[in-house]
Amino acid sequence: MTRIANRADSEGFVGVFDSGAGGISVLQHLVRALPGEDFRYFGDSANAPYGAKTPDEVYELSANITERMLDEGAKALVIACNTATSAAAATLRRRYPEVPIVGVEPALKPAVLAAGSKKVLVMATQVTLALEKFHRLAERWAANTELETVACVGLVDRIEQGHLDEPDLIDLLEGLVGAYRGEVDRVVLGCTHYPFVRTQIAQVLGDVRFFDGGEGTARQLRRLLTQNDLLREGHDGTVSLASSIDTPEQLALYRWFFNQPV
Ligand code: DGL
Repeated sequence: MTRIANRADSEGFVGVFDSGAGGISVLQHLVRALPGEDFRYFGDSANAPYGAKTPDEVYELSANITERMLDEGAKALVIACNTATSAAAATLRRRYPEVPIVGVEPALKPAVLAAGSKKVLVMATQVTLALEKFHRLAERWAANTELETVACVGLVDRIEQGHLDEPDLIDLLEGLVGAYRGEVDRVVLGCTHYPFVRTQIAQVLGDVRFFDGGEGTARQLRRLLTQNDLLREGHDGTVSLASSIDTPEQLALYRWFFNQPV
């Protein structure tokens, strides 16, 4: 039975989760935009990648993390994962209507609205691209834009390992998106792991502009906390990082990701 502790109390923490380290790219935006909040991050690296699982499996994993965070006293949640947002956010919002739940989605709108003369490339996981949510987004914003979508199989696994300056990562990206060099000028990073390899993607694609959901997610969290009278200001916020791979090495890797530019 989930007890929603502190739900009307601005002193509760904001729970942030992802299938692994990717959501740390979103967490960086949240911490910058809302420095008075206490954030607790959980990365489910033991079960990553979510993008290769069925939507039902992703829902179950996301629901378990949500329930645990609410039991621990989360006042709001950020699903810092496009895949889990697509598979679970709507159902979780129905299940916990009293809790502000913010999801992330591919930043298709700003990419389509930005000036550009070539196609827009969307990089995301298989689940994100297959589910209804993405198709609705594409119909709404990209009906008159040429979109290319690539399910980047293997990329989340590789980013989870760290060592992002090794040549094998460039080889992997070359195989995934190399064919679009010169064809696209705007790239939507539709998975929260990908901002960590922005430079490497640019190495393969050349001169492109990137779009991700990090800043928009921080704005939406501020909006919902304010509306619900839960915003915490005038206090030095804290950040804690945890993983389902509970080892010192994994936590050191998460800390490293937290300090990478995104
Ligand atoms: N960071 C997750 C996302 O935004 C990655 C999903 C996965 O584990 O495949 O989609």
